[in-house]
Amino acid sequence: MNHKDVEKKNKGDTRSEGREYLLEIQDLHTYFHTPEGTVKALNGVDLVLKRGHTLSIVGESGCGKTVLAMTILRLIPQPPGRIERGRILFEGTDLLSLDDEGIRAIRGNKISMIFQEPMTSLNPVFTIGSQIEEVIALHQPEAASTRKQARETAVEMLDMVGIPFAEKRIDDYPHQLSGGMCQRVMIAMALACKPSLMIADEPTTALDVTTQAQILSLMADLKEETGTSIILVTHDLGVVAQSCEEVAVMYTGNVVEYAGVEDIFALPLHPYTKGLMRSVPTIDARQKGESLHAIPGNVPMLKDMPGGCTFHNRCEEVMEICRKEFPPVFVLHSGHCVRCWRYAN
Ligand SMILES: Nc1ncnc2c1ncn2[C@@H]1O[C@H](COP(=O)(O)OP(=O)(O)O)[C@@H](O)[C@H]1O
Ligand SMILES: [Mg+2]
Repeated sequence: MNHKDVEKKNKGDTRSEGREYLLEIQDLHTYFHTPEGTVKALNGVDLVLKRGHTLSIVGESGCGKTVLAMTILRLIPQPPGRIERGRILFEGTDLLSLDDEGIRAIRGNKISMIFQEPMTSLNPVFTIGSQIEEVIALHQPEAASTRKQARETAVEMLDMVGIPFAEKRIDDYPHQLSGGMCQRVMIAMALACKPSLMIADEPTTALDVTTQAQILSLMADLKEETGTSIILVTHDLGVVAQSCEEVAVMYTGNVVEYAGVEDIFALPLHPYTKGLMRSVPTIDARQKGESLHAIPGNVPMLKDMPGGCTFHNRCEEVMEICRKEFPPVFVLHSGHCVRCWRYAN
């Protein structure tokens, strides 16, 4: 290790002192270099996640939520993708500094991921039992010293995620289960690794509302029991309201607002967040005869982004400076962060 590396390491150690944060993302940039141009999918993301907390990431389709999740796990297809710069400090280690073997040891062990489409994430030709047993054998060898013991542990995990008749269902193939049941199996597999961080990318989007509520409450219970921190990617503000401590709102590859969940619902600051909040239908508004609010315009194509603030041509509160200069992050009372010139002081 040369002098520079030592310096870097020490810096990393100081930052993680006290270890309030499990994950700290700084100035993260991920681009896709396509024949049509460079897509700046992440363009300077800053985020923190506290231990044992759930952080929701919200924003319209295409704003970079999945790319952020994939960048944390270093699963970006390269090429055309490239993690250009930034730091992802996880338990004090910069994930971007690890070699392939290092990141493989983190993936599925310390950080696990649940995807939107459970059916496509499970292997259709193996029973769910054999798939869970494989994960247990890999990550908790002490709980799978014999076939029988591995099976018993798998049944316990299925039981824990609320699959009825687990001893019977363990021999089912994925197509024999409903979408909600498959998502429960995915959660059981993600937890079998005993991760300190679980990233769930729109885990309930493909499910009906009742099943969605059950899966969210299951994730909340498991978080209480295991202390796992969660990053919950969603485009649904209803899901946000009921399931997290902190919220990050993304727009065109940036976090434009970051705050505690109560703060952001009580006092959204960024005009984009305000727009998102007002585009949720409420009975109250309907009774008053108000029409549903839509944010004007469309998300700009990431490969030809407007200058200045990327939201300025849709913004109802636009000022002269917004057309010219990209806003920095302003930190307000109680840690509420917002990337908007309105809050410059
Ligand atoms: N493999 C890829 N090649 C080129 N562009 C990509 C690729 N994957 C994602 N992108 C682009 O990155 C941006 C963010 O996508 P994504 O993170 O999937 O959005 P979402 O917030 O809906 O999850 C989009 O503009 C998308 O087109
Ligand atoms: Mg996505």
